[in-house]
Amino acid sequence: MDIFAVNASPTMRRGMTHRLLELVLEGARAGGATVESVFLQKQQISPCLGCLKCWVAHPGRCVQDDDMTRLRQRFAAADLFLLAAPVYVDGFCAQAKTFLDRLIPLVDPHFELVDGHCRHKMLLERVPAIGLVSVCGFSELDNLDLVVEHTRRMCRNLHTRYAGAVLRPASRVLTMKQALPEKVAAVERAARRAGRELAERGEVSTATAGEVAQPFFPVDLYVDGANLFWDRCLEKKRFPPE
Ligand SMILES: Cc1cc2nc3c(=O)[nH]c(=O)nc-3n(C[C@H](O)[C@H](O)[C@H](O)COP(=O)(O)O)c2cc1C
Repeated sequence: MDIFAVNASPTMRRGMTHRLLELVLEGARAGGATVESVFLQKQQISPCLGCLKCWVAHPGRCVQDDDMTRLRQRFAAADLFLLAAPVYVDGFCAQAKTFLDRLIPLVDPHFELVDGHCRHKMLLERVPAIGLVSVCGFSELDNLDLVVEHTRRMCRNLHTRYAGAVLRPASRVLTMKQALPEKVAAVERAARRAGRELAERGEVSTATAGEVAQPFFPVDLYVDGANLFWDRCLEKKRFPPE
């Protein structure tokens, strides 16, 4: 199993997306997968220009020859593609969306009907299965609904299999190893198991996904704790405060 992952979070190694993705990839390696991951923030990727020359003038080739040329090829070669991205304003952060838009040269402009629904054909004969790794700041899992639905729709439109999602709401609980060692360790174990499942079975089980996303606190306690955290950030004029 060849897994290609992109981490779209602009905070890169400092971010919770990175923490979660690294656990998943560690598990995937232990399950026998070969793994490559890149930070999108380190790549030169311009937004799609919408010219559609990649469809009609020179099919499959984008007019913008930036790092997406190589990343598109890497995406196409993988067995499984993992999109790791934080929730920004209820959806994907811009880096993730830009990457997804720039996959459009892989699509054939012609329409076809699949189960009564319009789709494009694909230029690729084989599209990697797609899985999601995502985090958000609020504590309810439904804050991740839109990125999950977006990933599912993308799989439908790209004629490929949805491999499931590893989601962590209240993302900063991943930093609370000292205060809550057992709970954080349980989430970390489950995230590694999710990676192993991806490598061995090509998808994340519902049980494992549930353990990664498990609640830590009643929501009113979480709100109080978060507000203390923001007060400290304001005092130090820094995020995170220490
Ligand atoms: C611009 C911006 C918008 C955000 N919007 C949301 C949001 O709509 N819902 C939410 O639960 N968290 C939101 N967050 C919180 C992030 O999802 C959370 O802090 C996450 O851990 C950021 O990813 P990172 O740790 O990899 O940097 C937002 C953060 C930023 C910077």
